[in-house]
Amino acid sequence: MHVLVTGGAGYVGSVVADALLKAGHAVTVLDNLQQGHREAVPKEAQFIESDYCSSKDLDSAFRQSGFDAVMHMAAETIVEYSTTDPRRYFHTNVVGGINLLDTMLRHKVNRIVFSSSAAVYGEPLTAPIEEDHPKNPINSYGLTKLMFEQILQWYGRAYGLKHISLRYFNAAGATEHLGEQHNPETHLIPNVLRAALTGTPVSVFGTDYPTRDGSCIRDYVHVIDIARAHVLALQRVDDLKAGGYNLGNGQGYSVLEVIQAARDVTGIDIPVRLRPRREGDPAVLVASSSRARSELGWNPRYPKLEPIIESAWQWMRTHRTTFTGPI
Ligand code: UFG
Repeated sequence: MHVLVTGGAGYVGSVVADALLKAGHAVTVLDNLQQGHREAVPKEAQFIESDYCSSKDLDSAFRQSGFDAVMHMAAETIVEYSTTDPRRYFHTNVVGGINLLDTMLRHKVNRIVFSSSAAVYGEPLTAPIEEDHPKNPINSYGLTKLMFEQILQWYGRAYGLKHISLRYFNAAGATEHLGEQHNPETHLIPNVLRAALTGTPVSVFGTDYPTRDGSCIRDYVHVIDIARAHVLALQRVDDLKAGGYNLGNGQGYSVLEVIQAARDVTGIDIPVRLRPRREGDPAVLVASSSRARSELGWNPRYPKLEPIIESAWQWMRTHRTTFTGPI
């Protein structure tokens, strides 16, 4: 298939684009480079520097290229900012998303795999979280992901759009060539590893959560495994009915445990600074991914935390100068 990957110059998007190419698909990446990097787009992919919120740009991309499917990964993604500037999230993630769907319909492209998030669930009532768990997002980022999933359901029902939403828990790790490089970086593992490289303490946001050591618990999933789930979802999008699939390893690690694991991996005594809670963070997010395993045939290759951190560490060390500059 010829797949349009929105956000394919970003962290997860570039690894997905690479996996699609390796699986024999043709790939066009559309990215505005707000967070993405031109050099992260695989050489074999076509690249369009553009914003999916512009219907004019989208129309011309669809007219030229004849896509069979879309992987929609571009979005505003930082949870904390979504609590202070929700407008940007609704405009980009919801209004822009509808623009993308309408362009797809106009050009008779009826398959989409959507990057959704654990943030759709809000503060969980049970752990691990199953897909039918109540959805009460506690930040506007999670709400925009949930709204777009619901819009997909309606577009499926009314217009025959085939869709799968993959709810990532915490994407982490790197391939040999592609890794995480946001500006600003807000995610835990790259921040912990940067502290290992620079000696500047990593912040621990909140030590008074109702968890075993007071810090937040998350389910970290290797970006390579996330990318493999996308390739499987594309194979199955025409016949699966469920809509949403969790992608996680079913094992939660606290912020302090992640830091300790990173100390073990790097051999460096990473300094920490204890800080107040960050707004919008649920205490615990751990996935049950049994639906993805049974229906998509997804079987994570890197379910353990240490190899995930190790791969991120290898990547960060080979891109050292990017991470040792001003913070
Ligand atoms: N954290 C720190 N220090 C840091 C960075 C993070 O203590 O420097 C803590 C956070 O407060 C949180 C945990 O580490 O408790 C994980 O935070 P991340 O920012 O790494 O990731 P999130 O849990 O916020 O991830 C969420 C959703 C994902 C979503 C992602 C998008 O769970 O589904 O935000 O940014 F995709």
